[in-house]
Amino acid sequence: MAHALDELIADGVAGRRVLVRSDLNVPLDGVTVTDDGRVRASLPVIEKLAHAGARVIVMAHLGRPKGQVDPKYSIAPAGQRLAELADVPVRIATDVVGQDARDKAAALADGEVLVLENVRFDPRETSKDDAERGALADELAALTGENGAYVGDAFGAVHRKHASVYDIAHRLPAYQGDLVRRELEVLTKVVQDPERPFVVVMGGSKVSDKLAVIDNLIGRADALLIGGGMVFTFLAAQGHRVGGSLLEEDQLETVKGYLERAADAGTEIVLPVDVVYAERFAADAPHETRPVEDIVGGQIGASGLGLDIGPASAALFADRIKAARTVFWNGPMGVFEMDAFAAGTRAVAEAIVASEAMSVIGGGDSASAVRNLGFTDEQFGHISTGGGASLEFIEGKELPGVVALGA
Ligand code: 3PG
Repeated sequence: MAHALDELIADGVAGRRVLVRSDLNVPLDGVTVTDDGRVRASLPVIEKLAHAGARVIVMAHLGRPKGQVDPKYSIAPAGQRLAELADVPVRIATDVVGQDARDKAAALADGEVLVLENVRFDPRETSKDDAERGALADELAALTGENGAYVGDAFGAVHRKHASVYDIAHRLPAYQGDLVRRELEVLTKVVQDPERPFVVVMGGSKVSDKLAVIDNLIGRADALLIGGGMVFTFLAAQGHRVGGSLLEEDQLETVKGYLERAADAGTEIVLPVDVVYAERFAADAPHETRPVEDIVGGQIGASGLGLDIGPASAALFADRIKAARTVFWNGPMGVFEMDAFAAGTRAVAEAIVASEAMSVIGGGDSASAVRNLGFTDEQFGHISTGGGASLEFIEGKELPGVVALGA
């Protein structure tokens, strides 16, 4: 069983340096944080430790800089946002385990916080070689000096076997942060004991990213509502023409298998009945809504790209959501970043907000989508901070960052 953060606090942390792995991987527009959800979600554990007198050292990644120092991926904007929101002093190091990080870690006073630069600037963080990752973990652990501790609180990164997520937990007394604990509780309930009907809404562009999760949900969910770019592989598997829409031909047989197996397993796969087709992939592209069986009948014709589910599909999905007692949603229904193709995603979000079901929004992207469409976190039961992590949990995979803490 993982040790809880509260055990560490009860043992006494005043004066001790505590390394915390947080997920501060936020979307940026230049240096502006466009959705600070993950910073807000990380704040309680950081503040809890600082209020108890710990000298907190936060490790986090931003994007995928591939082991290179690249200012575009600096943690600084996320760190600054943390500093604005926190009620304790927050400083930011200009390197990961270099001179600046070591000096600032050594200079921390009780109740202060230091955010290290993007841990992925160091190539050892993501190395496949245990010894390389271990060497970085040793240097990170050394920042704590005597009597340090580690708190794993980056739910969004628990599926990564990385130095700051996995190896570090074997070098210091390790504790599970409250965010990880809460995420695991909610997702365990959804997977193992959902109130029924249990309805899953899946979207996003690529079916190949979602195969394992769909596979694991067949037989568990009562209905799987499918939208987003991945739906065209399902529609094609049913024999529909999909114009120039996203299609993963190499997945057609797998998807046909799911359609057959789902019917036997008591999971209804619900596909859109209409689609918004656009002439090209652009916010101002001419577009029209067509029933799925008749896409070549309209103006836009056989080369159109399906960029959103249509209004009849949105109404169909909303009805299913209304009848649900548990809803899990991962992935937008269309290209929600463009107003003309946001209606399907908005309709699903509205239906979830209006329903009395326990709702879980899985994924950094899905969470950003609903926030960017103007919804607030409080309107949903639980907004997971993990995208890949929540999907891998639902797939039933072992998560290195959870295993390392002994959960
Ligand atoms: C995420 O954005 O899902 C997490 O921060 C993990 O990021 P990664 O997929 O680059 O490991």
